Amino acid sequence: MSTIGTERVLDVHHWNETLFSFRTTRSAGLRFENGQFIMIGLPVDGRPLLRAYSVASANHEEHLEFLSIKVQDGKLTSRLQHLEPGQEILVSRKPTGTLLLDDLRPGRHLYLMGTGTGLAPFLSLAKDPAMYERFEKIVLMHGVRYTSELAYRDFFRHELPGDEIFGEMVRGKLIYYPLVTREPYDNQGRITEVLESGRVFADVGLPPLDPATDRVMICGSPAMLKDLQALLDARGFKMSPQLGVPGDYVFERAFVER
Ligand code: A2P
Repeated sequence: MSTIGTERVLDVHHWNETLFSFRTTRSAGLRFENGQFIMIGLPVDGRPLLRAYSVASANHEEHLEFLSIKVQDGKLTSRLQHLEPGQEILVSRKPTGTLLLDDLRPGRHLYLMGTGTGLAPFLSLAKDPAMYERFEKIVLMHGVRYTSELAYRDFFRHELPGDEIFGEMVRGKLIYYPLVTREPYDNQGRITEVLESGRVFADVGLPPLDPATDRVMICGSPAMLKDLQALLDARGFKMSPQLGVPGDYVFERAFVER
């Protein structure tokens, strides 16, 4: 089988002028772990143009879902943002990535920290029953510049906790914690700032970060990863050194398309 296949777009949702998500068909042989990413794209000038995208759907779902920014002069996203239902996209058959539950040591509290489209892998994990079995509380921190970028806000606040199948598992366990930095909002500040100040712990009713009990998954810009890594290392957290070797935290660069 070729390593690049095609899938058909089912629907497209534009969150604002810079952010959109879409769902596609999922070929039967396409298997992945929740939290992993995959190469997707379009043929451009007769050649496949592919970029890494975290899969936002869960591996038990029939479709694939992706969250993307729109860059007006971006090679791929300038085209991808005009996707319409029925169109085909290229999807590689080799999922990979480090945001795996299996690479975290057992713990009580799981912190999912994502900025911008770094939310995508956590959408997949938020629908994974294994995550709820392994942790008592899960705090999903999504940091964005503007309120309009808080994609899937209603999904986390209402849809998921109200879901017939997942609702019971999610309610009381998953705490959605959105943050906005560049305009007034109830919860203003960077993820790093509310961790340093301790505000997030007061807000969610958990003790400050402790490597004895807490585990962390991070997905964001290189600067965000660097700062969070320093913050966690200073508190005695040990990073998973490689795939298959569990640690206190794992991270992945959010894929910003150009
Ligand atoms: P800020 O608005 O203060 O730069 P971006 O789109 O640049 O990736 O940013 C998404 C969100 O991540 C923004 O709220 C931004 O805050 C925040 N951010 C940017 N750099 C860092 C960092 N080094 N640590 C934590 N948050 C960051």
